[in-house]
Amino acid sequence: MNLQEIIKTAKTLVADDKGLLAMDESNPTCNKRFAVLGIPQTPEARRTYREMILTTPGLGESISGVILYDETIRQQKKDGTSFIKVITEAGIIPGIKVDSGAKDLAGHPKEKITEGLDGLRDRLVEYVQMGARFAKWRAVIVVGNGIPSHGCIEANAQSLARYAALCQEAGLVPIVEPEVLMDGSHTIEQCFEVTEEVLRTVFNQLYTQRVTLEGMILKPNMVVPGLTCSKQESVDEVADVTVECLLRAVPAAVPGIAFLSGGQSGELASARLNAMNVRFKSRLPWALSFSFARAIQQPALEIWHGEETNVPAAQQILCNRAKCNRAAIRGKYNDTMEKTLNKPQNG
Ligand code: 13P
Repeated sequence: MNLQEIIKTAKTLVADDKGLLAMDESNPTCNKRFAVLGIPQTPEARRTYREMILTTPGLGESISGVILYDETIRQQKKDGTSFIKVITEAGIIPGIKVDSGAKDLAGHPKEKITEGLDGLRDRLVEYVQMGARFAKWRAVIVVGNGIPSHGCIEANAQSLARYAALCQEAGLVPIVEPEVLMDGSHTIEQCFEVTEEVLRTVFNQLYTQRVTLEGMILKPNMVVPGLTCSKQESVDEVADVTVECLLRAVPAAVPGIAFLSGGQSGELASARLNAMNVRFKSRLPWALSFSFARAIQQPALEIWHGEETNVPAAQQILCNRAKCNRAAIRGKYNDTMEKTLNKPQNG
């Protein structure tokens, strides 16, 4: 492994106020989102959709890296150019999701454990040969009555750390994603408490497994109230508690924190990221960036709708959402920008 290269890639992923575009939905998840809109759930439809995203003009101005799924990293544009080539020529770093999904955790009703460690070393070698420079693994933590349990947090943290160590051994930057889900009626205080415990446990395990913190990116949830909680805090309150939680639990050696969106709307995710950077950027040890899937893709997917004629309008809205998020990293995102860039379009 070349640690200096890994550290350089990790820094580049959060340099220039750019962020990541997660487009690594598994086939079942992608199909589910297509089904809602009546788009055919076929490999060709998924390929066409991903070609639309990756050929978006100007994407590299706001996006430093894209996270692909196993099916996508092997695909090409209609003209035969590999997606990896399209990505690198756009000045974007290709990455790959390497976990095989969250499964029920034995002995822990309603809790999940992410699988995918078996055979991972060999799969990583193959992805490196294909051109991937970073990899992602998502752990899922459910908040509810009496959960998460310590057993669930420990098991997921250890898997994340073992995956991260294997990534660095293979020359890849690990994107370490412990996601505390927004589903539920829990308060923001509960989300804070769970997120803090999860992050502390994850960094403890990363240390135990000898992961170099300078060569990784953390991809956490923002600290938010559950979706059905009756009290929904303001954008500034979410920004304050999220940063407070991260300052307690994330070592300064980590170069960047790239949030997942977790089902927040594009506007809310941008507004909250913006508020964090407006209020704290100059005082933080790490870059605060984004690694959104739905909060960047959703409006474009709805406009595209599986139709070739909608491609330019869908690409425009995708590029605009990415721009809004880059502005949010700079603390320069606002309502006016949202309205002028993202006027609803027909399609
Ligand atoms: P969302 O931004 O849609 O939460 O997706 C991020 C992601 O990569 C989940 O693993």
